[in-house]
Amino acid sequence: MPAHTIHPASAPLTGRIAVPGDKSISHRALMFAGLAVGRSTISGLLEGEDVLATAAAMRAFGAHVERGDEGTWIVEGAGLGSLLDPAGALDMGNSGTSTRLLMGLVASHGIHATFIGDASLSRRPMERVMTPLARMGADISASPGGTLPLMMRGALPAVPIRYRLPVPSAQVKSAVLLAGLNTPGITQVIEPVATRDHTERMLEGFGARLEIDEEDGAGGKERVIGVHGEADLAPLDVTVPGDPSAAAFFMVAASIVPGSDLAIENVGMNPTRAGLVEALRAMGADITETNPREVGGEPVADLRVRHAALSGADIDPALAPAMIDEFPALFVAAAFAQGTTTTAGLEELRVKESDRLAAMAAALTLAGARVTEREDGLVIHGTGGDPLPGTPKGAAVATRLDHRIAMSMAVAGLASREGVTLDDAAPIATSFPGFMNLLEQAALETPL
Ligand code: S3P
Repeated sequence: MPAHTIHPASAPLTGRIAVPGDKSISHRALMFAGLAVGRSTISGLLEGEDVLATAAAMRAFGAHVERGDEGTWIVEGAGLGSLLDPAGALDMGNSGTSTRLLMGLVASHGIHATFIGDASLSRRPMERVMTPLARMGADISASPGGTLPLMMRGALPAVPIRYRLPVPSAQVKSAVLLAGLNTPGITQVIEPVATRDHTERMLEGFGARLEIDEEDGAGGKERVIGVHGEADLAPLDVTVPGDPSAAAFFMVAASIVPGSDLAIENVGMNPTRAGLVEALRAMGADITETNPREVGGEPVADLRVRHAALSGADIDPALAPAMIDEFPALFVAAAFAQGTTTTAGLEELRVKESDRLAAMAAALTLAGARVTEREDGLVIHGTGGDPLPGTPKGAAVATRLDHRIAMSMAVAGLASREGVTLDDAAPIATSFPGFMNLLEQAALETPL
């Protein structure tokens, strides 16, 4: 494992940057284009390892997926209902989204598939998708604890279900809706807590019939999403907006490195994803949105982020679903704030690419921050803007096969006294291959 040291920033972050395409949207674009009959194009696709795992799987199911000269991807769909048996095991690498959504696709096709993944993915829970997909008729056998490797045979025809999500998860919601596409009748998912809605938005673009309602549930209004099967998907030209989860690291970096004034272009601002902007603003961050517009059916804006003195805050647990991937970055911001930041209701962070509560508590503590780990969140006592000491000589942050731990601690390194060493920066390539270069570029650009 190649160790990597991020040295303290020698200059503020300035200039204009653009982050890569949204990971969630990129996966969905490849999958839906692979199900349509005809030729779709995708521009702005994230070319990270996770998304490439989805592309390889769609090829194994019979779609033609190739990268054109200008970086636009071209997909000739296999057609919903016509997926082929993949010739070998589907290697999902580190990608939970690929695994869970593709399990949904297999569930309502009469095909057989084996899913394998890396050590991180092989520890993650799959029962959350196995339960509803088995109710639809799929036959699934997983490794002990409901993990990968996992084999499944889809049902043809599958039976439509009405399924209330026991945990707020866009992956589980999407798995059931994808299974519903090739299932006669209406398959419904009930969401007590709204999660990212890219599947719903993009499926409508590809011509699927969805019904989205609100119903009264025990804990208040619930979202009910129904998909009509068997659907006919028509090809679409998709433009993927920039990933707010990638922009998050730069929002925090510019907020904590003194003198920074950074423009981040083309950032997805879907309300189901934009929680970090709200949380950082509650801590006193200086983030302005300009040029709001729509890209690929998603709201997008350019952001300008200036260094600001941050204050600790109690982060509202209701914001969690809209910033679920951004907590590692938020914890770094909290480590530089004046006062205490408290987070709660974050049990789901323990089953991401790593246990992100344990991983960030250990990483920030090693870098000299004061952190208390609770069952469902972290309490962080900030430095009041002073640099963190950084990792001690000879010690390295354990990134635990988790790209977001690596990128968050790289950002902490920029604002540290001695730098932060990561034991392994390779996981960054799963979602943001150009991250380190862009971080350097942001610190070298000419001021706005
Ligand atoms: C994702 C949903 C979230 C998120 C993941 C991407 C998606 O996972 O953490 O990075 O694309 O649907 P959960 O569904 O497990 O919350």
